[in-house]
Amino acid sequence: MPDTGETHFGFQTIDLDRKQAMVDDVFHRVARRYDLMNDLLSGGLHRAWKDAMVTMLNPPRKGRFAVVDVAGGTGDIAFRVAAASGPATAVIVCDINPDMLAVGRVRAQERGLGGVVTFVAGNAEALPFPDRSQDACAIAFGIRNVPRIEVALREFHRVLRPGGRFLCLEFSTVDVPGLDALYDFYSFNVIPALGRAVAGDGDSYRYLVESIRRFPRPSAFAEMIAKAGLSRVSHRLLTGGVVALHSAWRL
Ligand SMILES: C[S@@+](CC[C@H](N)C(=O)[O-])C[C@H]1O[C@@H](n2cnc3c(N)ncnc32)[C@H](O)[C@@H]1O
Repeated sequence: MPDTGETHFGFQTIDLDRKQAMVDDVFHRVARRYDLMNDLLSGGLHRAWKDAMVTMLNPPRKGRFAVVDVAGGTGDIAFRVAAASGPATAVIVCDINPDMLAVGRVRAQERGLGGVVTFVAGNAEALPFPDRSQDACAIAFGIRNVPRIEVALREFHRVLRPGGRFLCLEFSTVDVPGLDALYDFYSFNVIPALGRAVAGDGDSYRYLVESIRRFPRPSAFAEMIAKAGLSRVSHRLLTGGVVALHSAWRL
């Protein structure tokens, strides 16, 4: 979106400066039920999408490797990276929302990963890490919530070391005839209804669905990634285009 001082919160047009607080309120409300709802709403598919991201990252089994999982929430990507890599890998979950981080810390303790995965409060638009400090920077289902996406992309570039990799999972657009109508029905009817029934909060889930529709298509997002200075930008679609997995490198 051009810098008009306005942005979208789902289908609403709002002042750019209001968006983060509104997003924070959504994740404050859904944090406790976040993981359960992910399984329920995706029929467990989010696990396969996250596995695909970590397979693409292919963290080394030997040697030091620093990964930051931005907007990492309750730690799903970080835990998978920790499981797939060697003992000298350091994984940081960086998220703006203390409620999501609190759930993540408990989950890390339960998995015996308290010493491997670190949880840090931080904004994707101003990452609390030095320049060139990370071997990889991942963000899953987070970027569409960030008010100034271009600023966050420049931050990912800044914190990556030359040769470091950027990976992003985000919902995309289903263009397959027939499947698109089904997906629309599911998104706008079933998801808010389930949100209301299970989490007692239909509005938050309506925002999540609407924000998916507002997010740029994969090719447009790929251009934004390149504009931030990252190279060898590519993406592949998963599950008929429900999700796009983007990859780029800092060269
Ligand atoms: C849909 S959740 C994704 C969580 C996790 N990555 C996953 O895949 O399960 C989106 C996360 O983005 C976080 N978030 C929103 N705006 C952010 C920002 N500006 N900086 C960092 N995190 C942010 C939210 O707090 C929330 O935890």
